[in-house]
Amino acid sequence: MLALTLTSSGREPVKFAKNVPMKITKSASSQDKTSLKKLYVKSYGCQMNAYDAARMADVLAPEGFEETRHIEDADLVVLNTCHIRERASEKVFSELGLVRKVKEARASQGRETMIAVAGCVAQAEGKEIFRRNPSVDLVVGPQSYHRLPQLLAQARSQGRAIDTEFPVEDKFAHLTPASSARTRARGLSAFVTVQEGCDKFCTFCVVPYTRGAEMSRSYEQISAEVTRLVRDGVREITLLGQNVNAWHGLDANGQPAGLADLLFRLSQIEGIDRLRYTTSHPNDMNDALIAAHGHLPKLMPFLHLPVQSGSDRILAAMNRNHTVQDYIDSIAAIRAARPDIALSSDFIVGFPGETEADFQSTLALIEKIGFASTFFFKYSPRPGTPGADLTDQVPESVKADRLARLAALVEAQRHAFNESMTGRTMDVLFEKAGRHSGQIVGKSPYLQPVQVEAGADLIGTVQSVEITGCSTNSLFGRLAGPQPGSSGQNIMEECA
Ligand code: 5AD
Ligand code: SF4
Repeated sequence: MLALTLTSSGREPVKFAKNVPMKITKSASSQDKTSLKKLYVKSYGCQMNAYDAARMADVLAPEGFEETRHIEDADLVVLNTCHIRERASEKVFSELGLVRKVKEARASQGRETMIAVAGCVAQAEGKEIFRRNPSVDLVVGPQSYHRLPQLLAQARSQGRAIDTEFPVEDKFAHLTPASSARTRARGLSAFVTVQEGCDKFCTFCVVPYTRGAEMSRSYEQISAEVTRLVRDGVREITLLGQNVNAWHGLDANGQPAGLADLLFRLSQIEGIDRLRYTTSHPNDMNDALIAAHGHLPKLMPFLHLPVQSGSDRILAAMNRNHTVQDYIDSIAAIRAARPDIALSSDFIVGFPGETEADFQSTLALIEKIGFASTFFFKYSPRPGTPGADLTDQVPESVKADRLARLAALVEAQRHAFNESMTGRTMDVLFEKAGRHSGQIVGKSPYLQPVQVEAGADLIGTVQSVEITGCSTNSLFGRLAGPQPGSSGQNIMEECA
């Protein structure tokens, strides 16, 4: 499962003002003079939702929609929702109340606003969304957003449109590729969904119900998308899937192949500097994939491998189908293949029936493995999942206490990891100017921001950097000369 963030079309975090401006701005009226309509997409949740939000913008671009960061300017508002945790639907309904006010304010100025609810809440709630908020014009599930233009037309002609089917047709075959300009504006790192859905049915998780059965995109589709992105300046690709290491397809000889083969073939595309993949299930970390970490220098030495609990009893209740020792053994094999690898994981505290002893086993596992970063969550019963029907739910106060203790441990590990970077020399992919003049910021192999005093001409290149210190969230360093294997080219110039 993918880690959660909040983005607008998968870029910078965006705050949605509680006091939605009711005044229609000058810029809005000046946009009347152009034929372009404005699209405001707000995306919640995981990186795949961010990817989907960007694809929705791409699908709507040929329809004349241009993205805006100002909701009051929007002719079409899309909320791309996430259903992973408690009160997800309630939060969407309260947000829809705010969007409705924008719609009413614009209507009083004679301006139409369409409202679309997309993503996993759309999938889970369906028509209920229209009942609870009649200002919504269309509801579209995660497997149908390629049909947004038709659904918009239908909503206009019939008042409303809904599509929450799991269609037989391949959504990816119907997506509009982003224009070169849009890709360049999105930066040097890009996500590419290669796998979607899940057949694992962990007892706490809604994904198998909202995203459907596991499916893999073909190698040809993926390599075409990656090649286009690289042509338009992207240097780092993160392959996405709810269960990405379950990816399966055909190799160059038409034989069954897994994620290791996909990574190997993608790493041969000229211009790619970095490959990553997320999120993986421990049971799909097969020998070939583990070996790939040792063989592919472009595969970054940072792996997100959720384990959820350090107690075998709880893992069994979660239907994870592996033991704590299986996880420890996989990590040992991965570390043997790639000694400089760093790890991150997801943990749930307070799953039904979790005792203090179970929780202590979780802390012990975290101590044993040593994570560079960790995501942690209080268990929240999700309607329709088996976990929600279990009777031995853990009291909120106990969950909160365990969460605080786990947070303290993983925060200490994260600090220790960041501090251990000092004195190391590592490749940094420079992405943008820093906050202070003369400073540029890049990303370490471990996704840490790295700030360096250097010229903006290095933005878009991979450089060797000696790390000289760290703060809570960033590393600081100085250029250490070109690193063997890095292109050293200014790709911004190359793209111009
Ligand atoms: N309660 C708490 N956390 C959950 N996650 C998924 N479902 C739930 C739930 N019902 C967490 C898991 C997953 C991450 C993305 O979200 O740890 O790996
Ligand atoms: Fe959800 Fe489990 Fe599938 Fe991850 S592996 S998406 S947690 S059901």
